[in-house]
Amino acid sequence: MRVEALLAGVALALVLALTVPASAADVVARIGVTPQRAAMPGVTGPFNPSPGRAALGRLAFFDPRLSEPAGTSCASCHDPAKAFSGNHGSRIGVPLGSRPGLLGVRNTPSALYAAYVPPLFFYQDDDAPAPTPFGGLFADGRADDVPALVRHPLLDSNEMHNRSLDAVAAKLRGAAYAEGLKREFGAGALDTTPGAIAALGRAMESFLQSREMAPFSSRYDAWVQGKASLRPQELRGLKLFKNPDKGNCASCHKFNETSSNPARSMFTDYGFDAIGVPRNRAIPANRNAGYFDPGLCITARASKWPDSGQWCGYFRTPSLRNVAVRERWMHNGVFTTLRDAVAFYATRSIEPERWYRKGELFDDLPERYRGNVNAATLPYNRRKGMQPALNDDEIDAIVAFLRTLTDAPWAGRQ
Ligand code: HEC
Ligand code: HEC
Repeated sequence: MRVEALLAGVALALVLALTVPASAADVVARIGVTPQRAAMPGVTGPFNPSPGRAALGRLAFFDPRLSEPAGTSCASCHDPAKAFSGNHGSRIGVPLGSRPGLLGVRNTPSALYAAYVPPLFFYQDDDAPAPTPFGGLFADGRADDVPALVRHPLLDSNEMHNRSLDAVAAKLRGAAYAEGLKREFGAGALDTTPGAIAALGRAMESFLQSREMAPFSSRYDAWVQGKASLRPQELRGLKLFKNPDKGNCASCHKFNETSSNPARSMFTDYGFDAIGVPRNRAIPANRNAGYFDPGLCITARASKWPDSGQWCGYFRTPSLRNVAVRERWMHNGVFTTLRDAVAFYATRSIEPERWYRKGELFDDLPERYRGNVNAATLPYNRRKGMQPALNDDEIDAIVAFLRTLTDAPWAGRQ
């Protein structure tokens, strides 16, 4: 009996070893439960998902029945008119959910290009003193992929507010596209709650992998392919964005303007940083002076990383594709213009009173974590009385460059 159990265990281990993706071979260690990789993962995509699955995922993404009460779909917040970002009519920087007056704590990012975000991992660059984390969906990297992500908005009481996954599964069984899900995922796919949620997750993943959700049709992309030109101010902005002695933006918002593969220009390396954005005092949760959104350290704690507190204040570096179409900027939606989001980098520590109430630096973090904020690399490495890394003209040029990253469907809306 024991031997049988042992053999079954060995067989299971073998099956698991055979089914993990090939890229897992470069896992050299684990930090807590998170893999550390020997190399940065290669560029993924294009995905070419099955059109049938993508179409089902699209129907579910736009299905207002999936909230409680009905009326709020994924697309209510990830609004196609706003490059799949937006805050469901809320004007304070964080979205309204399915119930009147109830607001979340984070700004809605664009769902475009989300399929390209790799699962959470650690990697140590040659010149880095220690491994650092990359990837994972959400600002704190807490979901490894789309099937793992969907339950969060569906169950979040400030978002779609379903009581349970059972309730969501019941809605899926009654959906107009239920037959389609069964055709794609098997006749019994909706019979159990885990089966139904998995089918939904995989359909949503296919939709997010579709060309519609990763169009790569910006003027920047056309310019890289030699099919469009950029104006002098935009080109100047691009140079400042790249220049390590000026914006140094590309050290985190990575891109490659000589590669014909647009996926090399996601304008993020999927790493995390603590940039110390000001507190958004309009967020209802922030009326409690003791409430803070600690970012990556929640994931660090859940993933059993040592000294998780060192990651408080860190958020994932977002892609800057379609950044000009956002309604609000940064994880807490504190900025109302793209120009402010850029100017903040240049003058954060030189003119703190312009950004922080009473000039109190990094006021959206508890004092004990303010030391986590990046003050070492450009453009942050300044103090009061110093010259900013970027002057007003240079900030305008960078903003002009960022506007070239808007995909064709939204080019007129930024
Ligand atoms: C009430 C507004 C709202 C609704 C409804 C909503 N989302 Fe989101 N979405 C957000 C917010 C806010 C975030 C950022 C949350 C965070 O970082 O913790 C987010 C993050 C995401 C991301 C991660 C993007 C990234 O770059 O990390 C994806 C993908 C996504 N949502 C897909 C969906 C899907 C699929 C649905 C429907 C099942 C959905 N969302 C419903 C507000 C919403
Ligand atoms: C050391 C890494 C790093 C550098 C350098 C950097 N950024 Fe960022 N950027 C981030 C992170 C992390 C965030 C998200 C912060 C948050 O939400 O709290 C961010 C957010 C942004 C946003 C808001 C995006 C959104 O969707 O809300 C813009 C715009 C931006 N950065 C532009 C720039 C520009 C322009 C530069 C150069 C002047 C730059 N960044 C330099 C890491 C970096």
